[in-house]
Amino acid sequence: MKTVGAFTAVSGALSAFVAASPAATRASKVTPVTVKGNAFFAGDERFYIRGVDYQPGGASDAKDPIADTAACKRDIAEFKKLGLNTIRVYTVDNTADHDECMNALADAGIYLALDVNTPKYSINRAEPEVSYNAVYLQSLFATIDAFAKYDNTLLFFSGNEVINDDSTTSCAPFVKATTRDMKSYINSRGYRKIPVGYSAADVDSNRFEMAQYMNCGSDEIRSDFFAFNDYSWCDPSSFSTSGWDKKVEKFKDYSIPLFLSEYGCNTNTRKFEEVKSLYSTDMTGVYSGGLVYEYSEEGSKYGLVQLDGDSVTELDDFKALQSALSGTKSPSGDGGYKSSGAASQCPTKSSTWNVTIAANQLPAVPSGIEKYMKDGAGKGPGLQGAGSQTSGTKGTNLASAGAGAVAASGTAGAKSSQGAAASMHAPEFSMAPLVCGLVVLISTVFGAALI
Ligand SMILES: *[C@@H]1O[C@H](CO)[C@@H](O)[C@H](O)[C@H]1NC(C)=O
Repeated sequence: MKTVGAFTAVSGALSAFVAASPAATRASKVTPVTVKGNAFFAGDERFYIRGVDYQPGGASDAKDPIADTAACKRDIAEFKKLGLNTIRVYTVDNTADHDECMNALADAGIYLALDVNTPKYSINRAEPEVSYNAVYLQSLFATIDAFAKYDNTLLFFSGNEVINDDSTTSCAPFVKATTRDMKSYINSRGYRKIPVGYSAADVDSNRFEMAQYMNCGSDEIRSDFFAFNDYSWCDPSSFSTSGWDKKVEKFKDYSIPLFLSEYGCNTNTRKFEEVKSLYSTDMTGVYSGGLVYEYSEEGSKYGLVQLDGDSVTELDDFKALQSALSGTKSPSGDGGYKSSGAASQCPTKSSTWNVTIAANQLPAVPSGIEKYMKDGAGKGPGLQGAGSQTSGTKGTNLASAGAGAVAASGTAGAKSSQGAAASMHAPEFSMAPLVCGLVVLISTVFGAALI
């Protein structure tokens, strides 16, 4: 998100009662999306994200658009005109009621890609070790509780643009630890396997390393997908002029779904000619679509519509995107996806990749989160909470990367018993100090043995 500052976070949170409550409010008009190989699927159908980024009011005044039922319904009419199947929301209030908007979206066949961080509950790239803590994770977990019940929750972003240059790559282990903990929470609570992954800033120098890093190691610490922002196709352009052909080549062996979390260069008049490439077999073997930045005009000329009270004015970019999407069918069949692939190699330290923590280690699971794993996160802090960025301590406790992670039990779709959390081994490792000789070295396979 172009106007976002140093935050990355999440929000969310209904009580454990809601998480456990039955399907009365369930949005059941859509088939939940799953990951197979490097693609998304809705049942047996390949699922390509055809979406826009949706945060009316922008980042400076973060409000929960899913809690604003009237605006949500007003905008769904526009999403339908565009032929969308996904919106991305950057911030929600985990104490709010989302049923009506989520159900209306489901009725329209629209899924939600949700950032779980909020301005106050997020990893601070200036102080990642202090901002990665149990207070932070409780907010993220509460957001997961609030949204796991909807079939049209497509995926969770564990972080957004935390790394925005080469020097901030040292934050990557904290993003990966957060991703691990969110996956553990989903497994511990027995939720559907909602995909969790990171949304990377448009930074060429470390994009591939970040993608590799999030997809290396054992399954319970690897991401379920990877997304990045890409503003490099500026009309008039082409698959080769934009360099998108080289990215497809670079990522051809990447084994998890890849998509654009923001696209839509506005340097020149936008015709959204990249849409044709994005949903053609030039790219669909490697990419799974993307999200146009952004729905509403917020002062930086990326908007598709101008909002004013109840009224919506469609701008020229709206019509251009509408025509690009309606003129572009997705490939028939499976689009050339790869049904299986290996985890990535972890990247090595370089002038553009400054991760000094060994690949088989991560910041330890913060002590204090076992109870959330076992009993649920409880009430979230919402957008008005005191914040979590200063709740931790300086100095990173390291542990074997998978220590404390809770793997999914059984086959895909099976529910892990909530008792799984009882066997979490987080506390003993979370005290390991940042001294290599004292770090507990356990196989990263260890987490899998906990099921
Ligand atoms: C790399 O990260 C370490 C901390 O993890 C920091 O002390 C060092 O200054 C960083 N180096 C560069 C070149 O940014």
